[in-house]
Amino acid sequence: MMVATKPVVVGISGASGAVLARETVNELLRREIPTIAVCSNAARLVWQEELDQSYNEALAEWREHPQFKDYGIGDLRAPIASGTFPTAGMVVVPCSMNTVASVAHGLAGNLLLRTADVCLKERRRLVLVPRETPLHSIHLENLLAISRAGAVILPPEPAFYLKPQGIDDLVRFVVGRVIVALGLDDALPPDLQYSGES
Ligand SMILES: Cc1cc2nc3c(=O)[nH]c(=O)nc-3n(C[C@H](O)[C@H](O)[C@H](O)COP(=O)(O)O)c2cc1C
Repeated sequence: MMVATKPVVVGISGASGAVLARETVNELLRREIPTIAVCSNAARLVWQEELDQSYNEALAEWREHPQFKDYGIGDLRAPIASGTFPTAGMVVVPCSMNTVASVAHGLAGNLLLRTADVCLKERRRLVLVPRETPLHSIHLENLLAISRAGAVILPPEPAFYLKPQGIDDLVRFVVGRVIVALGLDDALPPDLQYSGES
């Protein structure tokens, strides 16, 4: 396990999959990695819908952790809005098609979008976990543009070959992939790697 001293930003947008965001933040904090969260207004609605908990309740728990910090979606004066503030990169999980379209076109009208834009311009790690199905050609072109700008596009796809037993297994796999894509681990834990043995 590698130790990050610069913070990782977790952007949470309003696609389905709030559990992925919750588990990503939990995993970063378990690893004592400095973590900064920013959540869109739509994501707060999805959070309540999917997790039967308000985002503020999750925030209250995370704020107990000394390595955790958060900023409001409209707080464009937050340090992460500037390229001069060092970060170890950002993951947007889950990533809505609205946020994908904005990032693809350099739109930076809220703190989540601005921070993603900063990661691209500063050539820092940016990982997007886009969630929508099916995808039309505009979604696909936007994702391609972001990939070409240097980001990792990491759809939350199950590894069926690992024979997941439920949502917890799916979530653990995706979060493991995110941790590797952020450069915080070299490889997935052995039980999440394909071994060829069934
Ligand atoms: C319960 C719920 C589920 C949603 N799921 C998705 C989704 O999976 N993918 C997506 O792109 N948008 C989804 N949306 C729509 C987005 O929330 C909406 O487009 C919003 O404007 C996104 O804003 P944001 O990018 O600022 O978070 C969902 C909305 C709700 C209320």
